Amino acid sequence: MICVYPGSFDPVTNGHLDIINRAVRICDKLIVAVGSNETKKPAFTTAERIELIRQAVGFEPCIEVTSFSGLLVDFLKKTGAKTVIKGLRAMSDFEYEFQMALLNKSLEPDMETLFMMTGVNYSYLSSSAVKEIARNGGKIDGLVPDCIKQRIFEKLKGGK
Ligand code: PNS
Repeated sequence: MICVYPGSFDPVTNGHLDIINRAVRICDKLIVAVGSNETKKPAFTTAERIELIRQAVGFEPCIEVTSFSGLLVDFLKKTGAKTVIKGLRAMSDFEYEFQMALLNKSLEPDMETLFMMTGVNYSYLSSSAVKEIARNGGKIDGLVPDCIKQRIFEKLKGGK
């Protein structure tokens, strides 16, 4: 089974990596797809977001990191995948994700969205929080992989 894990990943966090590492165990191939959400102004370019994910994931033959624009269902068709993986942190994520899953299903009835509950240690974690902390010089240890910390600080001109 090929699964697509779409998201903004602006930047990738340990919460995303937890989902990636768990999702890859239930599929043959996982495509991590950086999408453009027009309503959000990303801090990192698409190429940078892909690069940070690649660095964080390392070489994993069953994980592909790429980007998509346009509708997720059209990207799925291109890849031959029928399953989308999404992470759920708290009830606050639910309403939006529920709407997305139903809209996607109405556009492409053949596809399924599988939700994975976030790891308990990451339920409070978001890319926006990481950016805010980094911009203001706070510590992001434990929130993102060590190997990408420096690049996040360089980009956001923050602290430690
Ligand atoms: O990190 P996010 O905010 O969960 O990522 C959102 C993303 C990129 C996965 C989502 O905005 C998306 O799927 N965009 C593609 C457009 C689309 O297909 N929208 C659904 C029908 S309205």
